[in-house]
Amino acid sequence: MPEGKKTQLVNAGRSKKWTNGVVNPPIQRASTVVFDSVAEKNHATVNRANKTLFYGRRGTHTHFAFQEAMVEIEGGVGCALFPCGAAAIANSILSFVQTGDHILMVDTCYEPTRDFCEKIMKKMGIETTYYPPTIGEGIRALIQPNTKVLFTESPGSITMEVQDIPTLARVAHEHDIIVMLDNTWAAGVNFSPFEHGVDISIQAATKYIVGHSDVMLGTAIANEKCWDQLREQSYLMGQCVSPDDAYLGLRGLRTLDVRLRQHAQNSLAIAHWLAEQPEVDHVRHPALETCPGHEFYQRDFTGGNGLFSFVLKSSDAKATTALLDGMQHFSMGFSWGGFESLILANEPKSFDSLRTVAHPHFAGTLIRVHIGLEDVDDLIADLKAGLERYSAQLALHA
Ligand SMILES: Cc1ncc(COP(=O)(O)O)c(C=O)c1O
Repeated sequence: MPEGKKTQLVNAGRSKKWTNGVVNPPIQRASTVVFDSVAEKNHATVNRANKTLFYGRRGTHTHFAFQEAMVEIEGGVGCALFPCGAAAIANSILSFVQTGDHILMVDTCYEPTRDFCEKIMKKMGIETTYYPPTIGEGIRALIQPNTKVLFTESPGSITMEVQDIPTLARVAHEHDIIVMLDNTWAAGVNFSPFEHGVDISIQAATKYIVGHSDVMLGTAIANEKCWDQLREQSYLMGQCVSPDDAYLGLRGLRTLDVRLRQHAQNSLAIAHWLAEQPEVDHVRHPALETCPGHEFYQRDFTGGNGLFSFVLKSSDAKATTALLDGMQHFSMGFSWGGFESLILANEPKSFDSLRTVAHPHFAGTLIRVHIGLEDVDDLIADLKAGLERYSAQLALHA
């Protein structure tokens, strides 16, 4: 009988080969690996790409344990490790394009992903076309003879649109285009990338996998078709991580399911509460009908988490500042996926630079929250007081 996800999360990567008989694998720090004989050295050389100690940059047993666990949980055949999610994205794309190629990038991608296309890829003669996250079958019209990669991120950064990945992947594969997904929101467990047609699934493990806001880490898992190329190219670009960080990624997996379920339960309660507040225009939480692509969330995802956005009815920078500055439990920070609650605001104008073809044209300010593991009542009280400060500041101008 195949193991359930929770059992997998507890056991993945814990073979005795890596742990030496204790529960967790030791942190094996190494640059140099030493060999006692020519035969041993030759064996390591031949098997260096296959979980055999060769040289530190190829990884140690701690890395192999984490990589094996990630593949067991998310699928695919191999996992490349990167010093952060942004490196995982950049190196995955670069591994499959060359000068003169073209890629399709979702307009709602994480901002540095867009910057990478505009500031690095453009310089290399690689062209990017942005497409709306809800394009579905319409992606066909944007494919060019030189299109090599279709990049997806679902739900999209900040505005949270859920994409129809199976449809996009089907059309892309008809044209031999490699499908990549930034799967960070699903944490590799709430959306099965390879069952939905993805070739390379990327995560900022910095977020939920590590889960404690104390490590930068990226992963990219590839299917059989893409693994050799991804592994070798990112190795040649010098991508590797410390064994301490790989260890913390592996440790995060053990509690991922319980953390995610609690984040999801808290965030859903708060999303429903926010939807009832007079200052709120609508809530963009994938589990709510008011989120674009909600139907794909219902069809393709098996759970949620703590990250979502809501849009206010009005936009007033002073009122937004009054809301944010007085928060007790929500801190402002450019991340998410840790145990703590976070909050950030985007005024409608900010989307002028963040979007090319899918400008949301909100009338009011967008607030993105990451709902942590605190008591829901405390978080609601904090948001309630924030909305009251917001309204009081608005009334001063009225
Ligand atoms: C959706 C998404 N992808 C990728 C990244 C980049 O990850 P990292 O900060 O580890 O480079 C982030 C970071 O916020 C993110 O939100």
